Amino acid sequence: MRTQVAIIGAGPAGLLLSHLLHLQGIESIVLESRSREDIEATIRAGVLEQGSMDILTEAGVGERMKKEGALHHGFDLQFDGRRHRIDLTGLTGKAITVYPQHEVIKDLVAARVAAGGQLLFQVTDVVPGGVDGANPYVTFVHNGEAARIDADFVIGCDGFHGVSRPAMPAAGREDCQRIYPFGWFGILVESAPSSDELIYAQHERGFALVSTRTPTVQRLYFQCDPSDKVENWSDDRIWAELHARLEHNDGWKVKEGRIFQKGIIGMRSFVSTPMQSGRLFLAGDSAHIVPPTGAKGMNLAISDVRLLSRGLEQFYRQNRQDLLQSYTADALKRIWRAEYFSWWMTRLMHTFADATPFERQMQRAELDNIVASRQLATALAENYVGAF
Ligand code: FAD
Ligand code: DHB
Repeated sequence: MRTQVAIIGAGPAGLLLSHLLHLQGIESIVLESRSREDIEATIRAGVLEQGSMDILTEAGVGERMKKEGALHHGFDLQFDGRRHRIDLTGLTGKAITVYPQHEVIKDLVAARVAAGGQLLFQVTDVVPGGVDGANPYVTFVHNGEAARIDADFVIGCDGFHGVSRPAMPAAGREDCQRIYPFGWFGILVESAPSSDELIYAQHERGFALVSTRTPTVQRLYFQCDPSDKVENWSDDRIWAELHARLEHNDGWKVKEGRIFQKGIIGMRSFVSTPMQSGRLFLAGDSAHIVPPTGAKGMNLAISDVRLLSRGLEQFYRQNRQDLLQSYTADALKRIWRAEYFSWWMTRLMHTFADATPFERQMQRAELDNIVASRQLATALAENYVGAF
């Protein structure tokens, strides 16, 4: 098989890149290790920045997101049992949309299939090769048969545990990482929304987040031990913990309902550079991870592939490589700011078991400062909506 761009991984990064390239008349093949049903059902992120919504809309895959996604103009910061609204639109002129990642995936897969795009699911043994020359390729097994795609470029969109980053030459690589001593316990619940807007709550028992999916399905998270097991958390224990952390001095209570999904997410900050070597490029989680507190993961994946698609377009249209050559530097400007914001918001909102009483007071004073100062609240809001 031959194509112009071989893409490994059908997450938001790989699928969107394939679609953006198609819109420019550039051919690609996407290789995915899981099944279509599996990628369309995996519950992950939920928040899209305005800029991500614009990119999806321009790419012609924003129709359902506009109809079914919920536009949010603010969120609440809660601490000491009180809520303080961060007026995103009032402070920045922008908003965010809550639209689940697996719905973005469904829209992108449908668009690729409708356009006759080549998506190969359930491939195994994927190995990129020849990336230091002008004729890179990917070998893999599909339907029990060994296969090979020859391409002009190989793009690794295969997430943190993929094969693309390890295929990069070791010389000159730098990995920066921080692993947090906590994770998030996430649940999906059948109930009406507890709140019109998201609530980020800081509590001495640990962080909690009230989010939503649809008018009848809600998404809730709470800080937990990353090595804990889902089986240790009965529904009653989960509700008791959420009520304790979200207790509010006006008597508001989170709405209970049938819990139909539970999972634990580990938390890390990670950036691997450079994001390119020869004809192999990395995009999204394959190159960087943020803790979920700032809701940046999917948005960063989208902005990486927007840059890459422009570089590839320039290569094919104008036979120039300057945008491809500056891809790592261009992408990292946004990535490091998002890394900073995600780290900062994680530190602000979580309970660190080893924090001294002094450090706990500093955390509390920082929250007080943010809600007392329009300037500090604006900085938070700008970062959250991605207003750069
Ligand atoms: P991915 O979505 O990881 O896609 C990579 C794809 O590559 C996958 O479909 C995978 O099956 C495939 N793949 C992997 N290896 C191979 C291989 N060898 N060959 C072929 N295919 C391969 N972000 C938030 O902002 N908020 C959240 O609440 C949040 N929750 C998350 C929960 C979990 C469990 C995880 C893992 C991530 C979460 N994130 C969250 C992060 C966010 O979902 C990611 O940043 C986003 O999915 C990145 O997109 P991507 O396309 O780069 O990678
Ligand atoms: C969701 C996830 C986040 O990481 C976040 O900060 C806000 C919302 C969500 O899954 O709904």
